[in-house]
Amino acid sequence: MEVIRAKSDLALALKNRRFLRMEVGFVPTMGALHEGHASLIRRAKKEVSFVVLSIFVNPTQFTDSGDFNSYPSTLASDLELAREEGVDLVFVPQAEDVYDGEAHAKRMDYGRLTSAFEGRKRPGHFDGVIEVVRRLFNIVQPSTSFFGEKDLQQLQVIRHLGKVEFPSMKIVGCGLIRDADGLAMSSRNIRIREGFRDHALKINSCLMEAKNAIAAGFRVEEALALQRLILEDDPHVELEYFAAVDPDTFEEYVGQETKGRPFLIVAAVVSGVRLIDNCLL
Ligand code: PAJ
Repeated sequence: MEVIRAKSDLALALKNRRFLRMEVGFVPTMGALHEGHASLIRRAKKEVSFVVLSIFVNPTQFTDSGDFNSYPSTLASDLELAREEGVDLVFVPQAEDVYDGEAHAKRMDYGRLTSAFEGRKRPGHFDGVIEVVRRLFNIVQPSTSFFGEKDLQQLQVIRHLGKVEFPSMKIVGCGLIRDADGLAMSSRNIRIREGFRDHALKINSCLMEAKNAIAAGFRVEEALALQRLILEDDPHVELEYFAAVDPDTFEEYVGQETKGRPFLIVAAVVSGVRLIDNCLL
């Protein structure tokens, strides 16, 4: 497994692979790798002949400097996981190299995809995500890229970016991976203080309760209202949103109209850690 730090070295390494007609697949990450990331790598291994993983904590997508400064960094074990999963090349760039100087992000507007929910709660977040993913796509030039449904809104934003700016690239969405107790895996989970995990677990259990209630015939807003109350009642859970959406548009679902492929989405802060989760209705 090659580990490359400079964009110019990466271009050279990939040129050789493309000359050999290898199909380059790309898994962008911010490191602190876990089973969720590993599932993306495994999917990539199935679909392409050369897998590039990037590890880069992108400063422009953080809307809270405390969150950026405390973002976990575990490069040695990340490289071990990447090697075990059969990654071919790991790209670990510096911000200066990715951004050709000072890090900045252009303002982007994809309608509700960038303005609702995550976009509203974290203004500028998707500007940073789009900026860095565009830059990484241009550097790596993959034929296929892999993203997790854990960050459902991000996945849809990237699909839109792909459609508009990288029409020949395939974007593959991969299922959400949970811990055995149901908590959606996230690099930030290690920051949940002892004793708070049970509160964090309510996020997933309320999603499941709402899903089951809707399947049993409850109106969407009734099922959501009840679970919202349960979450709001817990003094250790700061609920940001809990809604049913059409994943293509992030329009909210109302009534019993559940045609298409609606998702329940939720965001809450527990023990100072912002957690997001979702499930297909
Ligand atoms: P990061 O949070 O490191 O996630 C990298 C990729 O792993 C994303 O596509 C994310 O959706 C996926 N992922 C994370 N946890 C997952 C889980 N439990 N199950 C399935 N997939 C999971 O998302 C980012 O980094 C950044 O925003 C990035 C796209 C790299 C741009 O900086």
